[in-house]
Amino acid sequence: MSNLVTLQAHSSIGVLRIASPPVNALSRGVVQGIREAVDQFEADRSLQALVVHADGRTFVAGGDISEFSKPDFEAKTYNATLGRIENLDRPVVAALHGTVLGGGLELAMACHYRIAVRDTRLGLPEVLLGLLPGSLGTQRLPRLVGVRLALDMMLSGKPITAAKALECGLVDAVLEPMDNDALLAAAVAHAQALVKQGKGPRRTRERMPSMEGVAPDFFAKALEEAETKKAAYPAPRRIVRCVQAAATLPFEKGEAVEAELFEECRASPQSVAMRHLFFAERAAGKIPGVPSDFTPRAIRKVGVLGAGTMGGGIAMNFANAGIPVTIVETAADALERGLGIVRKNYEASAAKGKLRPEDPAKRMALLTGSLDVAELADCDLVIEAVFENMDIKKQVAKRLGEVCKPGAIIATNTSTLDVNVLADASGRAGEFIGMHFFSPANVMRLLEIVRGDRTDPQVLGTVVRLARTIGKVPVVSGVCYGFIGNRMLEPYLRESEFLMMEGASPAQIDRAIQSLGLPMGPCRMLDLAGLDVAAKVVVERGKAGGLPDDPSYRAVVQKMMELGRFGQKTGAGYYRYEGRTPVPDPEVERICAALAEQYGIARRSEISDQEIIERCVYPLINEGAKILEEGIAYRPGDIDLVWVNGYGFPDFRGGPMHMADTIGLDKIADRLDHYAAERGNRDGYWSRATLLGEMIASGRKFAD
Ligand code: COA
Repeated sequence: MSNLVTLQAHSSIGVLRIASPPVNALSRGVVQGIREAVDQFEADRSLQALVVHADGRTFVAGGDISEFSKPDFEAKTYNATLGRIENLDRPVVAALHGTVLGGGLELAMACHYRIAVRDTRLGLPEVLLGLLPGSLGTQRLPRLVGVRLALDMMLSGKPITAAKALECGLVDAVLEPMDNDALLAAAVAHAQALVKQGKGPRRTRERMPSMEGVAPDFFAKALEEAETKKAAYPAPRRIVRCVQAAATLPFEKGEAVEAELFEECRASPQSVAMRHLFFAERAAGKIPGVPSDFTPRAIRKVGVLGAGTMGGGIAMNFANAGIPVTIVETAADALERGLGIVRKNYEASAAKGKLRPEDPAKRMALLTGSLDVAELADCDLVIEAVFENMDIKKQVAKRLGEVCKPGAIIATNTSTLDVNVLADASGRAGEFIGMHFFSPANVMRLLEIVRGDRTDPQVLGTVVRLARTIGKVPVVSGVCYGFIGNRMLEPYLRESEFLMMEGASPAQIDRAIQSLGLPMGPCRMLDLAGLDVAAKVVVERGKAGGLPDDPSYRAVVQKMMELGRFGQKTGAGYYRYEGRTPVPDPEVERICAALAEQYGIARRSEISDQEIIERCVYPLINEGAKILEEGIAYRPGDIDLVWVNGYGFPDFRGGPMHMADTIGLDKIADRLDHYAAERGNRDGYWSRATLLGEMIASGRKFAD
């Protein structure tokens, strides 16, 4: 028998024990082990019941996601094994703890009885990977908890608590928190009691799903919603069909429906992309030069300098995680205003039911306002979020270097400035780091962590860990203009402006980009962020000598600022606004036509959507390749995380670098060459990254 799974007798009860750290995922070895343990239990008639139990921090957390992409993957063996467990003629008890997810919950549902420790979470999160539960979860869950809740759980992917599981019949008993040995003992006792009471098998497949709250048009409506709101995703509509099969067909027929639809999901490019992101997120936490067993610094108190929109949002992240924060501002009214906005945000969340009524007060109690930088002296981490200007930020860095206690980490929230220069200004370069939050800082999942040339590995590791504690996706970037995200954004915005001058309207550009699945194209995005803010970034960069020689470079946004068209906030930018609704504005066309004339750019009456996509997205990918080549990002997957979590790039495309693999690197390079020839390769706009050429020559993909 595989050593990942064992069968042992505890007096007259068999214990099937799974031990495959870290999360007992169902690798082939584990599946084989379970099968052999069932063989053994079947043969041993001295055992009166079976307990299924897992070692370590959790019961089985799901199928092994890395197996799904293998050509010889099949779900049949596992599903048949679950069928054999369910068919056993002696009672089977699942002992649950940790995160009982996916194939883990499917295993538990094939058992006859389930008990769980109070802090257990149970769910079928496959939809988040573009999949549906493929081991009869779609058939067994409705039979245990009813059609409505089962569909909800599968479409949201969100786990439920043990208390909720007890209430809906998914588990039979909830136990107070206890260690794993105590859980095993409790499960054995439970099995003995069942035997004593003469309780036999209780097979899920033999039950009828409860149709409570299910109207005659329930499935039609659910299907319509999945096909409209989630049209880009393969799983939701198929999950609805599976649950409908569970509600209307015999178990075996539903099984066949699930098998077919699961396979369609698994093979879909969307699911491949989402599985790529799952592993990218885990890989991003592994930082070269930071040993996996490093000891993080304790962060018990955080300071934030600046109570503006950014500072307030940053502070909320820590208060949400129960970490006290001191916010420092220069003027009392600004501080008052900043804290007022934070309070309003919390109250709005509570009104929407996203927070408990008592939470706003609890979280506000963790925030202390101050007008004195010296009050940051007892903080373990201080993040400055003051105005984006090198001179101001240098002064602030210097002051923090003086004020912060020894061992404290000092961070800048700059989005463009040189972190090494600021680190030097602080006089404590080893403890200095960039923490680039994305706006709104309390909502966006991305945190770009900028590693200065002299940042101490322990400081870096601490901040990466902390990012996870506050629910962010951390991605480490080296120092360069714009770091990973904003640097790649630059050629994307450059081309969208050239396209406008050549004759494409903002609406057409946005439509073409949104057809890829981004929630907003570049014009809507900048109108929302503020064209004044965007233009100032260009101007500042120009002053620092960082712009191409081309005088038409980002000319449109600068013109917009000059004309006071700051975007949505002034009622006009690339669009005109009726309330919050953008309306195409002929004035913008006139402005762009005048700029085209000024810079000798030829106007065209027709520009295809394909050209818009290629010209905006391919140089962005090319920039990503340069970022990798220079070692600014460690992995293509890191870049994908930045775009999916910070810029709304659709997860079902896996991020720009994953998308590049699916398009074909040679095709992208050909189109870069094509535009270089057609448009002239001014300032090297279309020059291929060296890495791209090397990868094409050696037949490699970013995934390799
Ligand atoms: N298949 C393969 N590997 C898995 C896995 C799975 N289902 N679930 C977790 N892992 C791996 C992770 O890749 C990570 O590996 P690493 O240490 O080499 O990076 C390790 O297990 C720990 O996972 P991590 O997510 O870092 O730990 P966590 O404690 O924060 O979260 C879970 C644990 C189980 C909640 C989380 O990993 C998770 O949600 N897993 C996916 C569950 C799922 O979708 N199951 C259904 C699959 S169809």
